[in-house]
Amino acid sequence: MSAEPLQILIDGEYYAEADAKISVFDHGLLYGDGVFEGIRFYHDRVFRLEEHIDRLFDSAKAIHLAIPATPAEVCQMVVDTIAKNDLHDGYVRLIVTRGTGALGLSPYQCEKGSIICIASTITLYPKEYYDDGLILATCATRRPTHDTLSPSVKSLNYLSNVMAKVEALAAGAQEGVMLNTEGYVAECTGDNIFIVKNGIIYTPTVASGSLNGITRKAVMELIEEANLPLKEIQMARYELYTADEMFLTGTAAEVVPVREYDKRVIGDGKPGPVTQQMLAAFRNLVETTGTPIY
Ligand SMILES: Cc1ncc(COP(=O)(O)O)c(C=O)c1O
Repeated sequence: MSAEPLQILIDGEYYAEADAKISVFDHGLLYGDGVFEGIRFYHDRVFRLEEHIDRLFDSAKAIHLAIPATPAEVCQMVVDTIAKNDLHDGYVRLIVTRGTGALGLSPYQCEKGSIICIASTITLYPKEYYDDGLILATCATRRPTHDTLSPSVKSLNYLSNVMAKVEALAAGAQEGVMLNTEGYVAECTGDNIFIVKNGIIYTPTVASGSLNGITRKAVMELIEEANLPLKEIQMARYELYTADEMFLTGTAAEVVPVREYDKRVIGDGKPGPVTQQMLAAFRNLVETTGTPIY
């Protein structure tokens, strides 16, 4: 890895970290008006790059934000920013803001969206999380509903997730389970949820208020390849409390086991066989697939 400060791409120009700045009039800052992606790269290959860019464009379309580049150009920006920083393994934060405009909510005040790409290394979860499993607690803050901001939009409005994370940490847990307004399980603050019960794998439907996770989808494909039964269901806390196994999926966390939820021990309190199988299969997938950087 380069010891130089990171070079950040903002609207087609690279800036050293200290100089990588946006206007205080950017509506991304003023109103959280924008969208983003978190993307991983492993051994010189970007994992599921096109899927992340597709989701970015879908999020932008849903909030009526025109990204001032094509999907292929944005893919290239990600690859170029990683290469510019001479990185080989790490994490990309790709952000599209509404751009600068006058004070006032109307997005039509902003002439053009801004595209920001940060490629960096990643601080991984400690190894014991994967060996022993996480402790989860239910958060008071609910996922936004489809009649407010669609939970499928990966927007710059993450305050409810931030509040939920505060609640989980206050409860002595490492992650928090977010319910939807009906009280069904949606997801964690930054990860999707899977459980195993009597040999069947279950995950909450996207309609429950979970983000359509790219790691979730990759794991669903791995489950299918392994010929294991999978069901997407509306899931209550009861299903989680009584699960034989539970694991989370996400770009940063990858596949991480859960050992305890709201003081209930999950299964025998150790990562179960299906969880371990998925963790190994996912690690193999990220090591062997992806868009080449160099
Ligand atoms: C709220 C939320 N749920 C789930 C996920 C996991 O999605 P992915 O696997 O695409 O990273 C994320 C991370 O992006 C997230 O922010």
